Amino acid sequence: MFAIPLGDGAELRPVEPWQAQEFLEHIDRARDYARPWVPLMVRVRDVESARVLLQDYADKQAADTGRLWAVRLNGTLVGGVLFRVFDTANETCEVGVWLEPSAAGRGLIGKAVELLIDWAVEERGMHRVEWLASSANHRSIAVAKRLGMSRDGVLRESFPWQGVRHDMEVWSVLAPEWRARRAAGHR
Ligand SMILES: CC(C)(COP(=O)(O)OP(=O)(O)OC[C@H]1O[C@@H](n2cnc3c(N)ncnc32)[C@H](O)[C@@H]1OP(=O)(O)O)[C@@H](O)C(=O)NCCC(=O)NCCS
Repeated sequence: MFAIPLGDGAELRPVEPWQAQEFLEHIDRARDYARPWVPLMVRVRDVESARVLLQDYADKQAADTGRLWAVRLNGTLVGGVLFRVFDTANETCEVGVWLEPSAAGRGLIGKAVELLIDWAVEERGMHRVEWLASSANHRSIAVAKRLGMSRDGVLRESFPWQGVRHDMEVWSVLAPEWRARRAAGHR
C-alpha cells in the first residue's frame, strides 16, 4: 500500500518497525558497500537494533522532525532515503541515502530524492534541502550534482568515522533554484 512508482519495477514505500527483520536482511546486503559512509550500517546489527531504528524514524515522522522510506526493486527492499533532519521552524532539511550494491547504477536514488525534494519544497514549504557527503564519496557527490545542488563548503575533518577523519562537503538546493530547475524541464 502507499507505494510511489519509480519506474522499471522500482518503488518508494514506507518502512515501519514491524518490518525490522526484512530491513535487517537488506542492511546485511548493503553493509559492506555503504559502511564507509553511512553510520546506520553499524547501528543496525540485529533485529532489535533494526526495530529501534525504525521506531526512532516512526517517532520522528509523528513529531514531523524526520522521515524514512524504503526503495524497493521488484518487491525487494534494496535501499533507503530519509530526512535525517526536518526542521520546519527554519525550513531546512537534510536528505540521506543508501542502496545495496545490486541496485546501484539505475538512477533509483536520483528519482527517489527528486520526489522527496518536491514534497519538501512544494508541500512542506522547505526553503533549503541539504546533502552532506565525504569528499571521498564520489558517487554521493555525483548524485548531489545531478540534482542540481550547489557546493556550499567543506567542514574539514568534521566526521571521524571508521578510523578516518572525513572532510564533509555540504551541498544544497534552495526552493527557488529547485523550481527554476523544474521550469527548465529537469525531471
Ligand atoms: C550514493 C549512492 C546511493 C548512489 O547510487 P547511484 O546508483 O550512483 O545513484 P542513482 O541511483 O541515482 O543512479 C545513478 C547512476 O545510474 C545511472 N542510470 C542508469 N539508468 C538511469 C536512469 N534511468 N536515470 C538516471 N540514472 C540512471 C546513472 O548514469 C548513474 O550511473 P553512473 O554514476 O555510473 O553515471 C550509492 O553509491 C550508495 O549507496 N553508496 C553507499 C552509501 C552512500 O555513500 N550513501 C550516501 C552517503 S552521503
